[in-house]
Amino acid sequence: MTPEQRYLELLKKALAFTLWPEPPVPIETFDYHRSPIVRRLLSLLSRLLAFRRLHLVKERSYGLEEREEGRIWPMYAQTMVGLKRLDNLQDCVETVLREGVEGDLIETGVWRGGSCIFMRGILAVYGDTTRKVYVADSFEGLPAPDPSKYSADRSDRLHQIKYLAVSQAEVEANFANYGLLDGQVVFLKGWFKDTLPRAEVQKLAVMRLDGDMYESTMDALGNLYPKLSPGGFCIIDDYALAGCRAAVDDFRASEGISEQMQAVDWTGVYWRKG
Ligand SMILES: C[S@@+](CC[C@H](N)C(=O)[O-])C[C@H]1O[C@@H](n2cnc3c(N)ncnc32)[C@H](O)[C@@H]1O
Repeated sequence: MTPEQRYLELLKKALAFTLWPEPPVPIETFDYHRSPIVRRLLSLLSRLLAFRRLHLVKERSYGLEEREEGRIWPMYAQTMVGLKRLDNLQDCVETVLREGVEGDLIETGVWRGGSCIFMRGILAVYGDTTRKVYVADSFEGLPAPDPSKYSADRSDRLHQIKYLAVSQAEVEANFANYGLLDGQVVFLKGWFKDTLPRAEVQKLAVMRLDGDMYESTMDALGNLYPKLSPGGFCIIDDYALAGCRAAVDDFRASEGISEQMQAVDWTGVYWRKG
């Protein structure tokens, strides 16, 4: 293995937090499925314990495979996509660098920023000083569904989950912790429907979509796919989610995209623009 490969292997494992066991989670972290009364009681109890610097936590016992495949919502990781989808991202970025496919890199839906930090790390390790990494997110979580426009999102409840809302300041701090926050990283803050049509992005070599919903996936495809260079990669993180899958299938059908989709793992897919 070259020193570059060693750095990227370690970077992936650090970002996915697979070097360490998954820690217990504070009891209120994933409380959206509990009744309001139980939520309130737990929150009160947590606050009382906090006076004594005690925390109420829940043990989690996940196998390495679930963690590597990005099947869990992790506590400390900077990315939830798992190692297989990070390997795929690495393959795509290394291919466009090697073959000189023109354009920048973007992820729409970044959460704590791990996949974007990884893309910036790949550019850094190969000495690319020209391409940008666009980091597009509301930094406030997912939008409430708009069923009048997107019926596939009708029953989506992801917008209620605070765990998915990570501020831009936190994401910037994560980049800085890895020594990868600089002028090649550009933040696009806001809802995709507002930011992507106006973004300064000219040409893309890799677009990675991870917005979970029909609306979020369609906004990204509609605004960004025309900017993807021939030979560039379109990566979809959430093809296992019905809304995302419907958006991808609708978009591919309406645009007559015939390039074969390749599976990355149980949910990730990608294709290369011809
Ligand atoms: C599943 S998380 C992304 C995980 C991330 N790619 C990683 O590497 O761990 C989904 C993210 O998409 C963002 N998001 C979803 N739909 C959006 C929209 N329409 N506009 C802006 N942000 C959106 C959410 O704020 C959240 O950060």
